[in-house]
Amino acid sequence: MRLGPILAAAAVATLAAACGKPQDSASSSPDAPAATAPAAPELSDADKQAILASYPAPYNTADLANGKSKFALCQSCHTIAPGGANMTGPNLHGIFGKKSASNPDFKYSDALKNAGWVWDASHLDQWLEKPMTYLPGTKMSFAGLKEAKDRADLIAYLMVETGHKAK
Ligand code: HEC
Repeated sequence: MRLGPILAAAAVATLAAACGKPQDSASSSPDAPAATAPAAPELSDADKQAILASYPAPYNTADLANGKSKFALCQSCHTIAPGGANMTGPNLHGIFGKKSASNPDFKYSDALKNAGWVWDASHLDQWLEKPMTYLPGTKMSFAGLKEAKDRADLIAYLMVETGHKAK
């Protein structure tokens, strides 16, 4: 058995405590505001939970696993990774805070081009309930998600996965 790694870890922990040396490890730093965590694709589940907790209700208590499973309904048309492809629908990375229909490489319907809102949780919630009723003329042919709880879980999942930071 080698003591090296244990001693090294202890030394790093001491250093970190002493001077706040930044680390990328999973060791939690209770003082760091969760919202500033970088939205890298490599976030651990603990990182994601911390980001989630920084969102306003009801998203702070959302079920990310359920959100992920609901995203399966979107995946045939949308990617969410940074720089992901546009498919039937546009890539959704960074969608929160963006003006509707602002992906320059995607051919939107006139309806969405003219909608002129900024995507936030509230617009997304109404959109996802029934896109074709919320915005007649949209070419997003998705029937909608009836359950408010499913929409909240999905929106929280999208916020975490698309790098949205709470204000
Ligand atoms: C059958 C394909 C399809 C499915 C399924 C689908 N979408 Fe879409 N989505 C589209 C299309 C097409 C557009 C562009 C709509 C337009 O131009 O009117 C779009 C647009 C959007 C936009 C607006 C993007 C922007 O740049 O303004 C969001 C947000 C969105 N979809 C989210 C979702 C989510 C979340 C789901 C899953 C619940 C989903 N979509 C399911 C095809 C789809």
